Amino acid sequence: MTQVIVNFVSAGGDTTVTATAAEGDCLLTVAQIHDQPLEGTCEGQMACSTCHVIVDADDFAKLPEATEMEEDMLDLAAGARRTSRLSCQITLTAALDGLTVHIPSESHNMQGI
Ligand code: FES
Repeated sequence: MTQVIVNFVSAGGDTTVTATAAEGDCLLTVAQIHDQPLEGTCEGQMACSTCHVIVDADDFAKLPEATEMEEDMLDLAAGARRTSRLSCQITLTAALDGLTVHIPSESHNMQGI
């Protein structure tokens, strides 16, 4: 099975967790396995936006476009950015190897992303 490396950058930007996932894995599941603070309350039903991540600008274009429903949920997500996505809607592929996502935080200054 093809391995896909994913980097999770903490809300403060000071910690990066590098995870080894497999093609076909859901990004939210990988994040939770690696203790990232993403609640994912609705378990992928696109009804909560607590799985929101901010994708690194260089990687954003590699992702398939968000559906209208995902965009609507992102509008409600705290601290959403132009490159925000719902991690429960991202299926890892070989093309996404090296993907870097940032954990959002309302309370931190996220300049530099
Ligand atoms: S887990 Fe609820 S929208 Fe992704």
